[in-house]
Amino acid sequence: MNFARFLHLLGQALWIGGGIAAMTLALAARSEDGTVKAGVYRLLARVHGVVIAPGALITVLSGLWLTMGMARRGQGAELGEPGLATMQAAGIIAGVLVLFVALPTANLLARVAEPDQDGQLRPVFEKLRKRQAVVSSVAGALAVLALVAARLL
Ligand code: HEM
Repeated sequence: MNFARFLHLLGQALWIGGGIAAMTLALAARSEDGTVKAGVYRLLARVHGVVIAPGALITVLSGLWLTMGMARRGQGAELGEPGLATMQAAGIIAGVLVLFVALPTANLLARVAEPDQDGQLRPVFEKLRKRQAVVSSVAGALAVLALVAARLL
C-alpha cells in the first residue's frame, strides 16, 4: 500500500504542478504575438502529453488501487466518509476531463498553431484555446478540491 500511496502523491505532483506551469505559460502567451503564441502552444502539447496527462492517469489508477486495498481490508465504511468520497468523485471527473478533453485539445491546438504570413493565427486556434482554458480551469479546480477534501475534510 505504501507504493500505491507513493504513486498517488507522485501523480498529484505531476498533474497539479504541470497544470499550474501550463496555466502560467498560457497566461503569459496572451500578450505575445502570433508566432510566439503558436510556439508556446506547440510546447504546451508536450507538457500535457508527458507531464499532466500521465500525472492524472497515475493519480486515478493508484487511487482505485488504494480504494480496492481499503475494501479488501474491511475498511469499506471509511470509504463513505465525506472527505474521501469527495476526493474520489472530484478526482475521477477531473481525470476524465484531462485525459479525454484537455489532452486531445492540446494536441489539436499544437496542430493548428501555424501563423499566416502576417503572423495571425486562424479563428479555429482561438476557438480551441478558449475551450482549453475552460476545461483546464474546471479540471484544475476539481483537482485542487480533491486535494483539499483529502487533507482538510
Ligand atoms: C486530483 C485527484 C486526487 C487528489 C489530489 C488526491 C489526494 C489524496 C491525498 C492527499 C491522499 C492522502 C495520501 C496520504 O496521506 O498518504 C489520498 C489518499 C487516497 N486517495 Fe486520493 N486523491 C485524488 C484522487 C483519487 C481518486 C480518483 C481515488 C479513487 C477513485 C482516490 C482514492 C484515495 C484513497 C483510497 C486514499 C487512501 C485513504 C486512506 O488511506 O485513508 N484518490 N488522496
